Amino acid sequence: MQQIAVSELTEQQAADELAQLAAEMQAHDRAYYENDAPLISDADYDALRQRNLAIEARFPHLKRADSPSDKVGSKPSQAFGKVEHKVAMLSLGNAFAAEDVVDFVARIRKFLSLDDSQELAMTAEPKIDGLSASLRYENGVFVQGATRGDGQIGEDITANLKHVPDIPQQLSGAVPEVVEIRGEVYMDHADFAALNARQKASGGKIFANPRNAAAGSLRQIDATVTASRPLRFFAYAWGDMSAMPATTQSAMIACFSQWGFQTNPAFVQANSAAQLIDHWRTIEQQRASLGYDIDGMVYKIDRLDYQQRLGFVSRAPRWAIAHKFPAEQATTILRAIDIQVGRTGALTPVAKLQPVTVGGVVVSNATLHNSDEIARKDIRVGDRVTIQRAGDVIPQIVRVSVADRAADAPAYEFPTHCPECGSVAQRELREDGTQDIVTRCTGGLICPAQARERLKHFVSRRAYDIDGLGQKQIDDYWALALIRSPQDIFTLKQRYSDNPPDIWRYGSGSKDKIGTLKDSAVKLFAAIDAARIIDLDRFIFALGIRHIGETSARLLARHFGSIENLQSQMMAILQGDMLVRAEIEAIDGVGNIMVEALLGFFAEAHNRQTIEALLQAGVTPQALPEAAQDTAIAGKTIVFTGTLEKMTRAEAKARAEAMGAKVAGSVSAKTDILVAGPGAGSKLKKAEELGLDVLSEDQWIEMAAIS
Ligand code: IVH
Repeated sequence: MQQIAVSELTEQQAADELAQLAAEMQAHDRAYYENDAPLISDADYDALRQRNLAIEARFPHLKRADSPSDKVGSKPSQAFGKVEHKVAMLSLGNAFAAEDVVDFVARIRKFLSLDDSQELAMTAEPKIDGLSASLRYENGVFVQGATRGDGQIGEDITANLKHVPDIPQQLSGAVPEVVEIRGEVYMDHADFAALNARQKASGGKIFANPRNAAAGSLRQIDATVTASRPLRFFAYAWGDMSAMPATTQSAMIACFSQWGFQTNPAFVQANSAAQLIDHWRTIEQQRASLGYDIDGMVYKIDRLDYQQRLGFVSRAPRWAIAHKFPAEQATTILRAIDIQVGRTGALTPVAKLQPVTVGGVVVSNATLHNSDEIARKDIRVGDRVTIQRAGDVIPQIVRVSVADRAADAPAYEFPTHCPECGSVAQRELREDGTQDIVTRCTGGLICPAQARERLKHFVSRRAYDIDGLGQKQIDDYWALALIRSPQDIFTLKQRYSDNPPDIWRYGSGSKDKIGTLKDSAVKLFAAIDAARIIDLDRFIFALGIRHIGETSARLLARHFGSIENLQSQMMAILQGDMLVRAEIEAIDGVGNIMVEALLGFFAEAHNRQTIEALLQAGVTPQALPEAAQDTAIAGKTIVFTGTLEKMTRAEAKARAEAMGAKVAGSVSAKTDILVAGPGAGSKLKKAEELGLDVLSEDQWIEMAAIS
């Protein structure tokens, strides 16, 4: 897409783009921090951030209350306890080019009014591509560990961090009473490869890169899982300290090492931008052989009194900067373009490459996104292509070498039919008449690829999450026709315990057991039995209805209370009951698109039969726990409007519901309380006309906290 230069944007365009960027970056933050599954590369994310900053710089009055430039990381997840950081955990500004580093040093010299004769000592060390953690020690004993979270509040992962061998339980030598060590938890390349091999063998989740593996391993509810994952830790900063043992960054790092921490061996001191850049070049050369991922160097001012004077600007210290490495690239040959069919029928092209090493990792696939992307870059089979691996996401093709192309190489033609079922594949029309970017198979139920992918979704970690039944097993069992629909999973034991197919039966190797059911199959059947009891929200999510993600599934589960009720209300709407429809669309967080998707799903007899068959097979969705009844707002209807600054809408809503209130999307005579943040408009006016209780966000927080 051609971007308009920031200097050319009209005010309206700028406001629209800022809104779009806020939403887009929020989605990326969530993917990265909460799901440990980034959707774009760091470089692309940085580009979005830079664009957002540039627009805000030109139109400061348009800066949004939810501007991504004010955010560090993401809200802590609900699964762990919360830890409030006594000293905020901030982020770092970025330098990409050598001039940025020269500017950084010049800026600091100017800020501190140093003249040419005065030395400015700095430090340089690798920027580890892991996740940061804060470790609190009291009288030398490890008492609490937390993730960064949103920088103010992180998640309590003490139990998990106790299993990281590089983290001492007890510090050595004389230490201040309170010490908070900050650093990076990471996984090295060898351990990462071994972990993925084990995951593959056991049908578990395959991690995209060491950072996701580290994140996924650390944020485990069951800390024994963390214990089985080889995590490491480098100490590089600190938070709350009852006393400071040193007056420079480098002396602090030396103390950390004496206290028993690993500190990075590539840490050096430097006195000029030129020296910093020199070291950056040296480490960049060694990058692929370090054995762990780094994505740049971090430069810091050595003297702590200088750091103090320099202070912070919004989200990052003025006394430090991250000098990023460029994304790693290599060239190879595009051998073929494969088309994968997803669970909603989306046709995704995947580049099959002649394997090539990029930054220490062998790459043989790259994402091509969609047909427009292939056409725009004019990518043809047989081309010499430059691929880029940005450390975290699936590699991408950045350009093709047209000069190396045979004169008669045909342009790529995107398939017009589904490669799996032969049905017509087409791009849907959007409401505004433009074509959707995704080409979809119209085969629906008859398309085996869609059915298989739906099954994979059904058993995925956030849905049924059955031990021993992962993505690979679905492929295998599908091929053997053991499982072809969700309900088949729950009848496996009944169908096969007595006459197991070969894969579940001991073969000639173990004499006394020949022909009997393998232990692994017994275990699988037990895991399936246990999975019959499932929370209603997971059950709804597992159905794979379009536009119904985890959050919407939870909303629906809370609102409808049972699958039968959800289905009967949908059927009522299908039979023309507009009142029911209006009521459902008024649920905060449920919109027209979701209702349409639900109706589309329940209109299909096949889908209703699947639900019926699941229930028949003993699947028992559990209603979410009853909301509290004895709170100040139990039974009341609350509407939130305007911007909430201290919690997200979703959090406020969850809190209100947990306290027994109903949350509605619009103000009516039935509303009891309106919580109005800045920017509240028509809803506030209406509430005032109706004489309702109107609370500020602070009043709401007070109410939510005491009850
Ligand atoms: S110093 C107040 N040093 O990078 C600044 N951070 O983009 C404290 N990181 O949140 C950070 N290696 O997770 C520092 N050697 C290093 C680092 C490092 C990795 C991460 C850290 C931080 C992020 C900022």
